[in-house]
Amino acid sequence: MRVFGKNKVVLDRTGGAGARDMNGKAGETGVGEIGMKRDFNEHTITEAVIDRFGDTPDPRLKQILVSLVKHAHDFVRDVELTFPEWQKAVDFLTRTGQISGAKRQEFILLSDVFGVSMLTDAINHRMPAGATETTVLGPFFVEGAPELENGADMSGGFAGEALFVSGTVSAADGTKLGGAVIDVWHSDQDGFYDVQYPDKDEMAMRARFRADAAGRFHFRTIQPEFYPIPYDGPVGELLVASKRHPYRPAHVHFIIAAPGFETLVTHVFVQGDKYLDSDAVFGVKDSLIREFVRHEAGTVMPDGQVAERSWRSLHYDFGLKPLAAEGGAET
Ligand code: BEZ
Ligand code: FE
Repeated sequence: MRVFGKNKVVLDRTGGAGARDMNGKAGETGVGEIGMKRDFNEHTITEAVIDRFGDTPDPRLKQILVSLVKHAHDFVRDVELTFPEWQKAVDFLTRTGQISGAKRQEFILLSDVFGVSMLTDAINHRMPAGATETTVLGPFFVEGAPELENGADMSGGFAGEALFVSGTVSAADGTKLGGAVIDVWHSDQDGFYDVQYPDKDEMAMRARFRADAAGRFHFRTIQPEFYPIPYDGPVGELLVASKRHPYRPAHVHFIIAAPGFETLVTHVFVQGDKYLDSDAVFGVKDSLIREFVRHEAGTVMPDGQVAERSWRSLHYDFGLKPLAAEGGAET
């Protein structure tokens, strides 16, 4: 049994299917005491709903709820939402929840394709000069990737053009951050992550490295390719209905952590990829694009071997934002 708000509404039943619908009556909940406002119309209901949230004790929750009501009501008025459209939206969100679980998060994907993830990211990561810009985490990060030595091959035996990655990790002021932890993951040459192969149990194309005392790291892997976000669910339907493609430009993911600094979640994108200007999740930033330099067969690779086929190299210098630094000169 739960007691709500100033009207002391006591609910001792659960809201089972059909308990209430948009046309139906709320039933006997105890609402309707003397002094309650009623008879709302399309112009007065917004204030009434905001008023009903007036006792929310947490000020931040109250701010969010009030703003949500304002914007949601304005949206409904703006598009003059029809009842079939409302039902369709309920069905869409229901299916978005039903397809979600431990291995798939369709709501985050929905947030991604609406640009809400990147907007939230932008608001929360106003970077000082010298700090690397952030982008979406995405659904393919897996905890517990193997920790490898600098110079190791993290491709897990997947076929592809060899890619030699080197980089440094510094504070935004340029101080090198020895010991920084670098998580890396990416897709293969066909645009699939290891976890998308049902027959493969071993982790591949994902690893953890540690920067040396001078903040440097390097490893070997394979060149990633562009790929579609998962489009076999409600989000895919939405993309089809709006004639949007599901592709992300090729990239390598990084999470970089060092004590005293904000953990950096970012990618490095492959310069020249045809989807850089139409990323399905709006994650591309100019500062994160680099040339994955192509080298001819017969040249010597960083591991000293002579290449039998073409290979690539990438270098990126990452900058971390100190935990204490709020705002600052923005990039
Ligand atoms: C990714 O880059 O792995 C990703 C990001 C957002 C949605 C889907 C995939
Ligand atoms: Fe990705």
